[in-house]
Amino acid sequence: MSRCVEIYEVGPRDGLQNEKRRIPVEDKVALIDHLGRAGFRHIEVASFVSPKWIPQMADSGEVMKRIARVEGVAYAALTPNMRGLESAISAQADEVAVFGSASEGFSKANINSSVDESLKRFSPVVAAAVDAGMSVRGYVSCVVSCPYEGPVEPKQVARIAERLYQMGCREISLGDTTGRALPENIAKMLDAVAERVPVDQLAGHYHDTTGRALENVEVSLEKGVRVFDAAAGGLGGCPYAPGASGNVATEAVNDRLTALGYETGLNRDVIAKAALMARAMRA
Ligand code: HMG
Ligand code: MG
Repeated sequence: MSRCVEIYEVGPRDGLQNEKRRIPVEDKVALIDHLGRAGFRHIEVASFVSPKWIPQMADSGEVMKRIARVEGVAYAALTPNMRGLESAISAQADEVAVFGSASEGFSKANINSSVDESLKRFSPVVAAAVDAGMSVRGYVSCVVSCPYEGPVEPKQVARIAERLYQMGCREISLGDTTGRALPENIAKMLDAVAERVPVDQLAGHYHDTTGRALENVEVSLEKGVRVFDAAAGGLGGCPYAPGASGNVATEAVNDRLTALGYETGLNRDVIAKAALMARAMRA
């Protein structure tokens, strides 16, 4: 299997969305422009969601307008519905992401719908995004446990991942939203999902509440996963996942992958500085 691994930078979105303090647009733009020099192929920079639900992302259009786009970098945004997609198209996002859940409790808390209703809502969003020439990612949250319902069955994760894949998502990002997964949980979940979705279309999205995220990356590598979401400085969390901490840190994933002999194509000094910039934004 390939020794190349992509780190998909989600810091400007998943990292910052949970910060209570209003972060000025220029600080967000400075972080994104710096990250643009690191060698990432994708940076998730925006979220076109209800500003009542996620106030920190209300300036996403302005942020996307002001960033200096680097050739070869795809700038991505979350889009929960058609309205979000329209905003992402106006903002010239290169990639959009729909975000579902493997658990009913988190789906209700995060996007105010049941899992099946959300899939029905995503289907035209994915189709319209593809028509508009954008690539689409599909997130599945709570792939091991849910903050409201506890353990989640791997077959339920596989069902949602397969639906998103069949809809036209090019990549399915599997979120350990609570950050409490153990490597054996991740292994079982990946075995179930890989029966329905080709492993080279999967990404691991691990939060690091109990400090096991790097081990979860390693077990995913053994299963053939070659894309990992991470946030500069380890920032992040979701306001609708109480008790969950930040994403696994980009710089830590990069160091671990490099030590294991994988190539990420990232500049270590640039991401070290990005981590400092990101941490300085923390309230
Ligand atoms: P709702 O209240 O059911 O929907 O929210 P609604 O259609 O009734 O809209 C409510 C209000 O939001 C209305 O405004 C709409 O116009 C407005 P009002 O009439 O009350 O003034 N609205 C919008 N505004 C801007 N852009 C839009 C938009 N849509 C509606 N696109 C909704 C449903 C999905 C909109 C809401 O629940 C929502 O925005 N949720 C987003 C929650 C979120 O962003 N969570 C964090 C991201 S997920 C995550 O972090 C997990 C992940 O990292 C993976 C992992 O770790 O597991 C991806
Ligand atoms: Mg997340």
